[in-house]
Amino acid sequence: MCGIVGYLGKNSSKKILLNGLKELEYRGYDSAGITILEQNNFTMFKSVGKLNNLIKKSVDFKVNNFSVGIGHTRWATHGKPTEKNAHPHSGEFTHIVHNGIIENYQELKNSLVSKDYKFTSQTDTEVIVHLFEENLKYAKNPFSAFNKTVFQLEGAYALLLIKKDEPHRIYFAKEGSPLILGTNSEGEQFFSSSDTPLIGSVDQVIYLQDGEFGYIEDENIYLFAENGEIAEKKYSTLPKNKELAKKDGFRYFMEKEIYEQPQVVSDSLIGRVLDEKIYFDEIDKNIFDGIYEIKLCACGTSYHTALASSYLFERVAKVKVSVEFGSEFRYREPLLTRDTLFISISQSGETADTLASLKMAKKAGLKTLAICNVDNSSIVRLSDWSILTRAGIEKGVASTKAFATQMVVLNMLSLYLAQIRKNISPEELKKEILVLREIPNSLIVTSKLHEKIKRLSKRYLHGHGFFFIGRDIFYPLALEGALKLKEISYLHSEGYPAGEMKHGPIALADPELFTIALLPKNKLYEKTKSNIEELGARDSTICVISPKPFELADDFIQIHSYDHYLLEFFEMMVVVQLLSMEVAIRLENDVDMPRNLAKSVTVE
Ligand code: M6R
Repeated sequence: MCGIVGYLGKNSSKKILLNGLKELEYRGYDSAGITILEQNNFTMFKSVGKLNNLIKKSVDFKVNNFSVGIGHTRWATHGKPTEKNAHPHSGEFTHIVHNGIIENYQELKNSLVSKDYKFTSQTDTEVIVHLFEENLKYAKNPFSAFNKTVFQLEGAYALLLIKKDEPHRIYFAKEGSPLILGTNSEGEQFFSSSDTPLIGSVDQVIYLQDGEFGYIEDENIYLFAENGEIAEKKYSTLPKNKELAKKDGFRYFMEKEIYEQPQVVSDSLIGRVLDEKIYFDEIDKNIFDGIYEIKLCACGTSYHTALASSYLFERVAKVKVSVEFGSEFRYREPLLTRDTLFISISQSGETADTLASLKMAKKAGLKTLAICNVDNSSIVRLSDWSILTRAGIEKGVASTKAFATQMVVLNMLSLYLAQIRKNISPEELKKEILVLREIPNSLIVTSKLHEKIKRLSKRYLHGHGFFFIGRDIFYPLALEGALKLKEISYLHSEGYPAGEMKHGPIALADPELFTIALLPKNKLYEKTKSNIEELGARDSTICVISPKPFELADDFIQIHSYDHYLLEFFEMMVVVQLLSMEVAIRLENDVDMPRNLAKSVTVE
């Protein structure tokens, strides 16, 4: 979600770090910073907002000697996007940059605070720097202190650490977040969390593996595996094309973002699902006190999350829920009572209709909570509390990974409420938590699945319309599938509750009407199956997505067999996303920037 760069060499580290960060800007940022260590002196700059702010701030600073440097662009997860929370973080004589999330940071922080360490930021990262300095007091050398520190961290990290009296050395470690080490014939060494900053500067790279750690010093690399043994340095070359590299080799950002879903969903879960309980440190424990109803308000894809999670809140947390389109709510003079918690859901946090609805709710004195992907956005700033979805920047106009993370966060929130109100038994909660942990696996795109959808998509490029149908939470998923298809393929498509087709829409059925049917095994299987058969009997062309073979389907996409409908939901979500994308690609549309649409809808 964030970006890291590092440099060791004789050229201007300031320039190299800033250029590197510029190349990472497309990944999202809300603040940035660099530290340069030159002849035992640290110089650090940090700023909030665009990278240009950092460039301006450091304009007068010149690097004259051999130096090492580390830099970072941040996408806030723990703590607001402020200068204090921006990286690098520093201790007495150490600076660090870090990508990822340290799951056990609170526990480590408590122990460090009890030893009188002073924390200046709200981040999880700052614990690493103090922990290293504490370990150094008892270690035989700095590397063994670093080794011990890395060993104590739980969660995901790619980190670079520099120490004041070691101006030729950078320590590094990687677990679960990408980190690349590059070298060139001039003896310079570079680090980056992605290919793009390295292209053109290095001859060869090592894509560090999970568990690997070590340090670089002058022209040397000391690389170790998780078990502490010397690791083999596996060199490779980089792609040449920067634009392609930004997409990590995928054809479109949308495709990349679909493939990123297992990772970002894991990020959303980190620190929130521990042992057999759900935790949301970012909200007040009393948030649900006196709350009789939850109102979920959103637009577009985020509205589909709202609708799907309304089923979960009522079913699991036993709380009354209403769902609102921002654009309708704001003008329909709704009756609002203070026993309602108003939850706005938004990827961007800037959607005008959702924002205006939130303002109305605030004015009426309701408690407000934002589920959002962008910290410091208008919706986050205005809400009493916010939970960040941690999807990282989403570039494709068609929302994919933001939807996945919203769904996971709201599912967790419904369980959290059920847990607080004791509407769920410990055994049931344990089962639901196992399902939560399984979600990232259900999102993995296999080449077999993708190939199948690619081939099948050629049959769905025309026709007079598409119906996506499903029941229960598969109905909002049907709406989402239809929205995905229409926004990037420009084909007419609608989402419908499967049981509603016979009340009118079935009149449209003929071979040129394509039905995409979501048929889970674990939720209303027989009922949905009958609805699909009704359409088949009227000769609609039918594509069934199900774990169970469906003989009467014209096309069939088989998903894995799970014991819980939520896992079926997430795998089917991937299928409808890929199907829309492959249809749009065959129609030669601009998948990432479809006509007439904008990523952030800040006007009515
Ligand atoms: O940023 P938001 O989640 O508030 O945006 C709401 C909609 O504009 C957005 O979800 C839109 O529908 C997507 N482009 C759909 O893919």
